[in-house]
Amino acid sequence: MRQHRQPANALRFKRRLLRWFRAQGRDLPWRRSRDPYEVLVSEFMLQQTQVTRVREYYSQFLKRFPTVRHLAASSPGAVREAWDGLGYYRRASNLHQLAKTIVESHDGSIPSEPAVLEALPGVGRYTAGAVASFAYERRVPAVDTNVARVLRRVFLTPAADGAAGPLQIWNLARRLLPSRRQTAWDFNQAMMDLGSLYCTARRPRCASCPVRPACHTGSRRGSRA
Ligand code: ADE
Repeated sequence: MRQHRQPANALRFKRRLLRWFRAQGRDLPWRRSRDPYEVLVSEFMLQQTQVTRVREYYSQFLKRFPTVRHLAASSPGAVREAWDGLGYYRRASNLHQLAKTIVESHDGSIPSEPAVLEALPGVGRYTAGAVASFAYERRVPAVDTNVARVLRRVFLTPAADGAAGPLQIWNLARRLLPSRRQTAWDFNQAMMDLGSLYCTARRPRCASCPVRPACHTGSRRGSRA
């Protein structure tokens, strides 16, 4: 597969993925927002926690800390209390620190550039891509473990899969991104939904998967898979 080329099944896969997502994608509260702070809060919460649980906490947290300035000005105890029940408190403490950095060094605005986002506390490559894409509709990939799994299964043969590291997977995601910004947003969100609804780590639901005919793995599995 040459660097600049899309895999042979790419167009078919994207057409199916996007058609399915537009009809059946999840309507999640953070997907209705393009407010970078709100998107950032959702991404921090989603880092280690299931969507259903995050839904319970997300709007309460935003009611309590409606803007990055409110969060920056709060006490660590208040932030901990609002996060209580979500676990992995380190995320809350990073988010609080991040809010202070945004107010002190970025004039209160969350950056849109992935490289700048990545320098913030608790922001890795995935979260930087997710905020740039989901809040700013920047045409950048956002590859977490679920998306990486989908990409591997759909596009790589078992031999190629063994040889592909994270860099190859990110490059593949970049090559696949649709050229329109809104469509790239849809693509990134759709990959998340496919990964959690069909292309799950254990027992993938290939038999009913909307992209099955365009998937290396699904198209080779028996019909009961
Ligand atoms: N996990 C991380 N970001 C997500 C999003 N925007 N939608 C669903 N699951 C996610």
